[in-house]
Amino acid sequence: MNFLVVGPGAMGCLFASRLKKAGHHVIIVDHKPERADFINKRGILIEGAAGEERVRVPVVTGRAPEKTDVVLICVKANQTREAAEAISSWLDLRAAILTLQNGLGNLELLEEVFGKGRVLGGVTAEGATLLGPGHARHAGQGQTIIGPAGPADGPVAKIVSAFENAGFDTHSADEVENLIWGKLIVNVGINALTAITRLKNGQLPAIEGARTVMKMAVGEAESVAHAKGINLPYPNPFERVLEVCRATAENKASMLQDVLGQRITEIQFINGAVVREGKKIGIPTPVNLTLTSLVSAIQETYDQRITD
Ligand code: PAF
Repeated sequence: MNFLVVGPGAMGCLFASRLKKAGHHVIIVDHKPERADFINKRGILIEGAAGEERVRVPVVTGRAPEKTDVVLICVKANQTREAAEAISSWLDLRAAILTLQNGLGNLELLEEVFGKGRVLGGVTAEGATLLGPGHARHAGQGQTIIGPAGPADGPVAKIVSAFENAGFDTHSADEVENLIWGKLIVNVGINALTAITRLKNGQLPAIEGARTVMKMAVGEAESVAHAKGINLPYPNPFERVLEVCRATAENKASMLQDVLGQRITEIQFINGAVVREGKKIGIPTPVNLTLTSLVSAIQETYDQRITD
């Protein structure tokens, strides 16, 4: 298949290199020319349990020259609109658009830019950490679920088979919104807390204060999801968050990685999204508002940190 991977972040590098290695045709789109040059010269380097691997994947900064079957959006949620608009004028009209991004609203935003029928959504529990340009650590394997499933010879079935073939444990499902909320609540419980405390995922449940705030933030998100009629893909959200903390104990969550790299985080699309959705239906979300406000304050003041 012909893949266009938008954004050479940790996930972009992981998916692009694995798909390329499995024999697919892959091109990465990047908006930063120096980084694109660097990756074109050096290739993508992935560190994993089995050692290091370098894979050459071409990176373009403008129009991708060839036919595209699937666009995999791998930018941060705050860059989704800009990235989508940048490729929409020249993108192959038959291409399906797939988002596995964290946070709420990416699917809707992509549908605004590309139209409803072409956009697919899902979640991935693959863990990756960006170590430098085109250089990522594959921190842990996890399931990827894509939907809506569609016909047996449709785009989702083909993507599932391509991903499986590239070594990703992948399935299809129909209820994409439920899956996205399921992942959202995990991110609600983990990401902001790691960004504020600078702890790894596995440490959070053992710290009483972090665990208390986690439980309250997750409880609020669960109430909002429940009121919206979302069918979460697990019975007990707080237990699920604790389970993910254990399974990804050594991860620096993506929001912690962003704060350490002094980048804008996805807070507005995670805890901030719970606050916005809660407001719409009259459910108070003070803990998520507090977490959103604190992470926003951190990202607005990177250049004013006191270091001693
Ligand atoms: O954003 C992340 O880092 C991941 O979605 C998760 C599940 C919190 C694991 O680190």
